[in-house]
Amino acid sequence: MKKQFRKIYGINMNITNEIITEYLNKFYFENTNGLSQLRKEAEENRVPIILRDTELLLKTLILLMKPQNILEIGTAVGYSSSFFASLSDDIQITTIESNEETYNKAINNINKLGYKDRINVCLGDAREVLEELKKEHSSSFDFVFIDAAKSHYRSFWDLSIPLIKDESLIVCDNILMKGMTASDEYDRFKRHKTNIRHMRDFLDYINNLDYAQTTTLAVGDGLALSIINKRRG
Ligand SMILES: C[S@@+](CC[C@H](N)C(=O)[O-])C[C@H]1O[C@@H](n2cnc3c(N)ncnc32)[C@H](O)[C@@H]1O
Repeated sequence: MKKQFRKIYGINMNITNEIITEYLNKFYFENTNGLSQLRKEAEENRVPIILRDTELLLKTLILLMKPQNILEIGTAVGYSSSFFASLSDDIQITTIESNEETYNKAINNINKLGYKDRINVCLGDAREVLEELKKEHSSSFDFVFIDAAKSHYRSFWDLSIPLIKDESLIVCDNILMKGMTASDEYDRFKRHKTNIRHMRDFLDYINNLDYAQTTTLAVGDGLALSIINKRRG
């Protein structure tokens, strides 16, 4: 059975079938206004930015929900935050990055793309920055994108809840961790045991909350979409 499993799915795979992903990516339109150049540079430098299919789903969700105040945890070089800003002039974004060098690159890219008035980049560990944001941003965000250290998703989630409005959406990226969350088989060198345990616990947690309606999807590296209804908590 194990052998067959390997044969069918391969080891260290992307969670989506490559032929299908390649086919679907034909429907991905390169962004204009410098974003596609930023994607190219990030990919060349192996910066882990959102995958194309993840980007398309986020675009649909944002155009549908029309959030005005987005909170992002994990800025990297500013690709996803700039992408969110490109979708509507009415969107304000607060994004958090803990690595100073990466933070400086993000500031530079966001300035170059002309979004500095709408994207506020905070430097620091999100677990501390989120505590600080509570002082001025209680219940003010209507869309959260969690895309940083996987072992801290539970803290990012818990600390974000007081910052969001009712009926907001929280999107968590990389929840399948290249298949490892679903099966230890994909953790080939047994290096990710702790992250895997944390992610499984996190998914159990968010799928059992009274105030959240969560859907987990095998898009990109796995996405969890959670509609928050605080009155049910
Ligand atoms: C996957 S990348 C973010 C990609 C970005 N959202 C995009 O798609 O363009 C994750 C980033 O989160 C940052 N990070 C990791 N742990 C963090 C933490 N505790 N607080 C803030 N940022 C963190 C990393 O330094 C890294 O740049």
